[in-house]
Amino acid sequence: MNDVIASSDDWAFLCKADEVPVGEIGTAKHPGGMDLAIFNVEGEFFVAVDRCTHGAASFYDEGELNGHILECAWHNGTFDVRSGAALTMPCRVPLRSFETQVIDGDIYINPRAKRFQKPD
Ligand code: FES
Repeated sequence: MNDVIASSDDWAFLCKADEVPVGEIGTAKHPGGMDLAIFNVEGEFFVAVDRCTHGAASFYDEGELNGHILECAWHNGTFDVRSGAALTMPCRVPLRSFETQVIDGDIYINPRAKRFQKPD
């Protein structure tokens, strides 16, 4: 499970952690109305906007998660959900991701998208 960063009213509740089994992709709404995809990587949760950055594919509907690698079904581009990095063509633009924490079995995000940082 993700470490608890802080408890704050600024964090937005998405869903119960047990609604997204290990290796699965869940969905929830961002407070602003966007669809989000929730990735469970061996009990650690990552959240991004539910739209491929190459086209308009929904990862919740058509993505496949293998460990921390997300593959888009439309053109088989891949991303690392831990960093949001686009890994293989035709995907070049990183995922728009959110800081995520789990408190008492509930998944929360910081509604402000994370600034993408290229992994080392
Ligand atoms: S829409 Fe996702 S790889 Fe093209």
